[in-house]
Amino acid sequence: MTAILTENLTKKFGDLCAVDNLNLTVDKGIFGLLGPNGSGKTTTVLMLTTLLAQTKGTASICGHDTRLAPEKVRDCISYVPQDMAVDTNLTGRENMFVFARLYGIEKPKEKIDELLGVMELSDRADDPAKTYSGGMRRRLELAEALVHEPEVIFLDEPTIGLDVAARRNIWTHIRTMTKKGMTIFMTTHYMDEADQYCDRVGIISHGKIAALGSPAELKSRLMSDVITVTIEGSFAPVQIEGMVVVGQSDNVISFTAENGREALPLLADALKSAGNRVKAMSLHEPSLDDVFLQSVGKQEEPQGFEELKFHLMLHRRH
Ligand SMILES: Nc1ncnc2c1ncn2[C@@H]1O[C@H](COP(=O)(O)OP(=O)(O)OP(=O)(O)O)[C@@H](O)[C@H]1O
Ligand SMILES: [Mg+2]
Repeated sequence: MTAILTENLTKKFGDLCAVDNLNLTVDKGIFGLLGPNGSGKTTTVLMLTTLLAQTKGTASICGHDTRLAPEKVRDCISYVPQDMAVDTNLTGRENMFVFARLYGIEKPKEKIDELLGVMELSDRADDPAKTYSGGMRRRLELAEALVHEPEVIFLDEPTIGLDVAARRNIWTHIRTMTKKGMTIFMTTHYMDEADQYCDRVGIISHGKIAALGSPAELKSRLMSDVITVTIEGSFAPVQIEGMVVVGQSDNVISFTAENGREALPLLADALKSAGNRVKAMSLHEPSLDDVFLQSVGKQEEPQGFEELKFHLMLHRRH
């Protein structure tokens, strides 16, 4: 049974088309919906979780239509919203009991103990959630989401606002969840995370899917390599056909080339001839950031992307 299926799913708010004819099929594993602020990610999640009625089109979760059988959909999903959703005045354990009762879980104590253990919260389970760090609250929300053993979990920006270690920790838990056969549908701004952890991604821009596939597939479609050069002293510009300087910060310069391996020695020679003292050169494949920028064009980029803007111009020429 397909975990998530949408056909021309559309949501309009007055004249604004927040989600525009979305056609998606998601099966097992982690699917990441990526897009800038206001591109329609949360609106999509709200429709898929039955919390918002679509204007047009259909969505079904595990074979149940979100409009015709919302209760059946809710039985097989969990949803962790973008904003923190724990009651901070209750302890972690009490928050878990609220969820277990909502879902009518029998013998909730054992289940709650187990999930608090899985999410590394056992030793703080009886402290009020307001004393938890952001990462601990997120783990508590994941524990809550697992209480009724859903088949599909929706996570809206699961790692936003967390430090690097906490983000990695959350991802370890999310990956473990998929090993048990769950489908994760998540949204994120963090391209590096999507690249590393998602099996498939969809890039959404102005409510429309602009690119869809595995991170590797999408990157390979760009057909361009990036060469980063570190120069000692000031940079004397070089001109090589087919290569373009796409970014420069202090003494680090980035070039792109269709075939990086062939371009590397040519570039090394040209840099030397122009009088540059090269400290280091590295060749790398395009990142998901590059794919993102190419797909969404020059609109508001997600955080941490400013330095990659320059790639956009180049990729547009391909
Ligand atoms: N209830 C609403 N009424 C009117 N417009 C709305 C409503 N909810 C969302 N929108 C608009 O729909 C568009 C998509 O919003 P949405 O919240 O889905 O974006 P998002 O991709 O989740 O953004 P972010 O990354 O900031 O969370 C935005 O232009 C937003 O202003
Ligand atoms: Mg959102």
